[in-house]
Amino acid sequence: MSTVESSGTRSAPDAARAAFEQVYSRPPGWTCRAPGRVNLMGGHVDYNDGLVLPAAIDLEIAVAFTAREDSRLRVYSTQFDEWVEFDTRDLTPGSISGWAAYPAGVAWAMAQSGLPLRGLDAALAGNLPIGVGLSSSAAVEVGFAVALRRSSDLDLTAMELAKVGLKAENDYVGVRCGIMDQLTSACAQAGHAILLDCRSYEIKQIPIPPGLRLVMMCTGIQRELSSSDFNTRRTECEQAAQRLAAIDEDIRSLRDVTPERLHTLLRHLPPPLDRRARHVVGEIERVRLAAQALEQGETERFGELMFASHRSSRVDYQVSIDQLDTLVELAQQGPGGLGARLTGAGFGGCTVNLVGASLADDFRGFVSEGYEALYGEPPQAFVSDAAPGASLEKVGA
Ligand code: GLA
Repeated sequence: MSTVESSGTRSAPDAARAAFEQVYSRPPGWTCRAPGRVNLMGGHVDYNDGLVLPAAIDLEIAVAFTAREDSRLRVYSTQFDEWVEFDTRDLTPGSISGWAAYPAGVAWAMAQSGLPLRGLDAALAGNLPIGVGLSSSAAVEVGFAVALRRSSDLDLTAMELAKVGLKAENDYVGVRCGIMDQLTSACAQAGHAILLDCRSYEIKQIPIPPGLRLVMMCTGIQRELSSSDFNTRRTECEQAAQRLAAIDEDIRSLRDVTPERLHTLLRHLPPPLDRRARHVVGEIERVRLAAQALEQGETERFGELMFASHRSSRVDYQVSIDQLDTLVELAQQGPGGLGARLTGAGFGGCTVNLVGASLADDFRGFVSEGYEALYGEPPQAFVSDAAPGASLEKVGA
């Protein structure tokens, strides 16, 4: 099988379709796309049953595909210039690694739920950078969940697709993340942030007031979630909740601790569990306040909460690095900058900034210059509106 020319500046679905035609010498039946995300508020609270406020961005992955008669999955990735081929009935957690673990994990998760799967011939492309904290892995999971739903003629809601992606990530890939990324990629609406209750899975779409843009500034420091302290943070939160449950059996997770009760409970937590709990409890409250501010158009208030969230992620949750802190400090002085925080897991990756639309380019220039003066390299920057969640299109329809 041949490999493919660089996809240039084509849209992700066009690049996937062109790659499919080159490697299979025929057009695909379908293309689907699934976006990356930023998290405007609510860092590291999804796996504490908390509230989060993410939005999808217009950087995305796309899968061009045709259903197969058998249960094999063949995928060519343009970003890695690599093939993978496997039978969806033969998968066991960890049996496939690297980028291909995500399509494999999704097929495994669907098969585990007893869903009858038909395979795919597929090509995967995208303009969503990998490993920078914009959820490329969740986008790939949701993209393949959409493709397998189509090829296998399954009746699954967007929320169910997100849960399949989460199972793939937790139990096949081995990262103990929460559902925020997959759910945003599957369920987002253009122009909206999603207020998601990670305990009840209730969602509320909140319009982002007009005249604002999302600016992502990337440190260029790649983070590998499975090898980072991510799983450690989750374990620390569980330990904190267990200790507090010994005092009050109604505390099932840190979600059950109110800000009012926190200061009396903190003395029962040894370091660093006290700091972790302080972040999580404060952050869930900030999401509530931020959602209200957004609904009322109080964008300055919203921005202040973003800065407070970053501070708490740095000081109490200890998931920031100097380069992220620099980007947030610069954002505080940047023209049109309302708020900034690290997005995603931290430990590298990028910041999300809420910026007045007319000043987005000036803002990006200002932050880039300041960052380059310190670190010798400008940060990679992206400007986006809140994008729609995953969608499917029949080729030639
Ligand atoms: C990663 C995980 C998410 C969430 C964030 C932190 O992006 O995939 O589930 O925990 O980190 O908010």
